[in-house]
Amino acid sequence: MSIQIGNLEIDLPIIQGGMAIKASMGRLASAVANEGGVGLIAGTGLTPAELKEEIIDAKNKIVNKGGALGVNIMVAASNFMELAKASIEAGVDMIVCGAGFSRDIFEVGKESGVAIVPIVSSLKLAKISQRLGADAIVVEGGNAGGHLGTEKDSWDIIGEIAANISIPVFGAGGVIEPADAQRMLDLGADGVQMGTRFIATVECEVSDEFKNMYVNAKKGDVVEIASSAGLPANAIVSPYVNKVLEAATKKPTSCHNCLKKCTRTFCVNERLVMGHEGDHEEGIFFAGKDVWKINEILTVKEVMDRFRTVFK
Ligand SMILES: Cc1cc2nc3c(=O)[nH]c(=O)nc-3n(C[C@H](O)[C@H](O)[C@H](O)COP(=O)(O)O)c2cc1C
Repeated sequence: MSIQIGNLEIDLPIIQGGMAIKASMGRLASAVANEGGVGLIAGTGLTPAELKEEIIDAKNKIVNKGGALGVNIMVAASNFMELAKASIEAGVDMIVCGAGFSRDIFEVGKESGVAIVPIVSSLKLAKISQRLGADAIVVEGGNAGGHLGTEKDSWDIIGEIAANISIPVFGAGGVIEPADAQRMLDLGADGVQMGTRFIATVECEVSDEFKNMYVNAKKGDVVEIASSAGLPANAIVSPYVNKVLEAATKKPTSCHNCLKKCTRTFCVNERLVMGHEGDHEEGIFFAGKDVWKINEILTVKEVMDRFRTVFK
């Protein structure tokens, strides 16, 4: 079941969600693209030069046709537009933008021919995206990993949005097993975006400690925290997350003004990097609420082959 997104024809309607900082890099994204899906490098937290290099490396690793390579950039990042332009120069097929909404990006997409795919959580923003020229949308619920735009689960918002939108709709939040993807399709989605499932893959470049936290997580281990980016976010309970919940964090000692708006109660970027490096005490470990369903680390090929059966 292939899908048309702007000028792109994608074999499998599966997007590997972008995961900052440095969780979804070229190795993971190129593996997904080689299996006929859309692999996204997370641009947030990188410099434009670093992002370009990562994209060029990933493109060199893509040997099969049928998939695509894109980037995910948080609109909340101070260098959002610079990163978007650097990605286009490096030759990406798609830009997915989450954590905020940019009207300016659609013009950039039209000029460059790169597909623009915003992440939205309401019918209102879905309609605005379609009118401004989005090539597809990702509809993400409050059960997803990372920063959130709504309290409602993906299952409760996808149907109404898909019924009222004519561009392709990808459901995100809670897709771990093929049956979850089938549920998204039954609710009217054209495809899915997954984050949590792809962290627990061989190709994902986070530490084994992080991956094992996913494998060992139990139901209820994911809590909502107030991120310093000014948005709620889902993370696995951990010593530092408990400090965030108790409002006992200390202000960071250095700051690179990486976010357009920051509460400065702690540095989410720094804590995510610590998490990805496996620092259980000090790190933050973003994950979707259904991470408890993960019980093994698979290769990207194994994940994609399991889901292929849904998109026949
Ligand atoms: C560790 C982690 C980091 C994430 N970072 C980002 C990000 O930088 N930008 C973004 O738009 N979404 C981010 N997300 C959300 C994913 O791209 C995806 O939409 C989400 O994980 C889907 O829900 P699921 O985790 O239930 O599959 C992140 C998710 C996780 C688990």
